[in-house]
This record gives sequence, structure tokens and C-alpha cells, in this order.
Amino acid sequence: MASAAYRQLLDATIRHLESLQAQGVGFVPLKRDSLAALIAPVRTSSPAMPRTPTPPADRPSTSAPRAAAPVCVKSPASVAPAASPVRNVMPARSVLDPKARRAAFEELRQRALVCTRCPNLAASRTQVVFGVGNPEAELLFIGEAPGADEDLQGEPFVGAAGQLLTKIILAMGFTRDQIYIANILKCRPDTPGQTSGNRKPTPQEMATCIPYLEEQIDLIQPRVMVALGATAIEGLIGKTETGVTRLRGSWLDYRGIPLMPTYHPAYLLRNQSLSIKRLVWEDMLLVLERLGQPITPKQRGFFLKPA
Ligand code: URA
Repeated sequence: MASAAYRQLLDATIRHLESLQAQGVGFVPLKRDSLAALIAPVRTSSPAMPRTPTPPADRPSTSAPRAAAPVCVKSPASVAPAASPVRNVMPARSVLDPKARRAAFEELRQRALVCTRCPNLAASRTQVVFGVGNPEAELLFIGEAPGADEDLQGEPFVGAAGQLLTKIILAMGFTRDQIYIANILKCRPDTPGQTSGNRKPTPQEMATCIPYLEEQIDLIQPRVMVALGATAIEGLIGKTETGVTRLRGSWLDYRGIPLMPTYHPAYLLRNQSLSIKRLVWEDMLLVLERLGQPITPKQRGFFLKPA
């Protein structure tokens, strides 16, 4: 008999494939070794075969590998849905080949760019803000939602908070195109009747949009993620009574990926104290350590009060 854990994993994989299918994903190429890993325990220990979702008539089958790659399914562990008990498993970074990853990423981007799942946001937005950076990045920053500048430029974190984030990224020794930046929401939250200002995404908007981010994460397979602010934390791990102040500085787990919660750069703009900047910087030092990046003594000392 296959173990209960394996069956749980398999069921989670099937549910995820079915949800991809419901979202319009036509087919899911699998590398031969991923497929072998998926079915091997059942083959050797149980006569039961994994169920393959039946595709609707107007869509190609999900069961066979294809040449083009709109979406790549990785190891079963890494495709577990957010609420699954099997999410604490490290995704294998090696499974996706770069060409398939880029093709899948582009297909996902095209799908997101024409999304109308939130009719009010689709009507009010200038453009969808999909994300920016390297789809093979080891480091992924996640913010809340596009603001006015991002909505106009189609790129996350380009306004005042974004310029501060860029400074943080540069101080860490990266450029924006070496890492990846995305948001929980891909559209700017509308503010009917107001000419300026932002609003927090609603739980429903977050739930509607998060599958795009989940697919992005599944494709990027970052080694480390940073959640910028309470909304990003909520979007990734669910609502918690614990605020950023208590959560920051310690690792959380997002489906096996180490997740560092920290303050949103907009909060840093509102609170210009050196000690808050230092806290964020300490979080970034933990990120660099986790990535195995060399840290200079100068970097270690950023935002420390002069003795
Ligand atoms: N704030 C965010 O959370 N995301 C952006 O893209 C810009 C500002």
C-alpha cells in the first residue's frame, strides 16, 4: 500500500492540476523524471494509479508531455495548494529547464494581463502589474498591490516606496533584474470617488488574485522570499493575529520556501527612524546569510547608531 502521506500528496497534486485546468491552463508538460517520481511509489507498492484530471473537450490533455510549455508541473510537493498539509516540503529547484520555465512564465503573464476576475479592478486599472525581474531568481520580494505609479508604468515598486526598495536591493548587492519582485494583487485597488490615495486589497481580491502569484512562485522556485508588510504576509500565509513587529526577524515557511517577513518600505518612509531602518536591514542580512551571499563588514554595519 502507498503511505498515507503519499496519498495526501497525490490528492493535493490532483486538486492543484484540476484548479489549474479550471483557470484555463491547457496542458502541463512533465519532465520524465518528475513523472517517474510521481508514480513510482504507487507502482512499486500499490496497484492503484494516479487519477488524471479529465480535460474539457475544448482543451488538450494534461496527461502527456508536449513540446511547448505553458505551465510546468514540478515535483508533487511543490504544486501542493496553499491550504494543503503537505506545503512544508522544499521544492526541487532543478526540475524546470530554463526554456520551459520562460515559456510557462510568458504564458502565465499573457493570461494575467487580460484577467477580468475582479471586474471593478479590470475596469479601473491602467494595466496589470505582473511582476519584474529574473524568472530564475533565487530571491523573491512580495509586496501588497500596485499603487498609482505602478499602475501607470506596469511595473511593481517604481514609486517612492519602490525607490526605497531598490536602494535596499542595491545595498544587498543585487540589481532589480537579478531578483524578482511581485505583489499579492496584480491590479491597483480601485478607489471610487477618490482622485488619489490607495486602499488595502480586500480578502476576496487577494483570494482571487493569489493563484497567479502561486504560479509565479512555482515557476521561479526562489530559494528565499521576503514578504513586505502585513498584507503580503497575510496573502502568503493567511491572516494572523501577530503583527509585522513580532513576526519580522524570524523565518516563516511558505510551502518549504524560507519566508522573511519585514516592514513595507512605505512604512519606512513614514517612520524615518534609524532603528526601524536597521531592523529591516537586519532582516535583509538574514536573507543574505540564508542565500549564502558574502556580507562585507560595511554591510554588517549599515544603520547602526554611531558609537
Ligand atoms: N507598494 C506595493 O506593495 N507594491 C507596489 O508595487 C508598490 C507599492
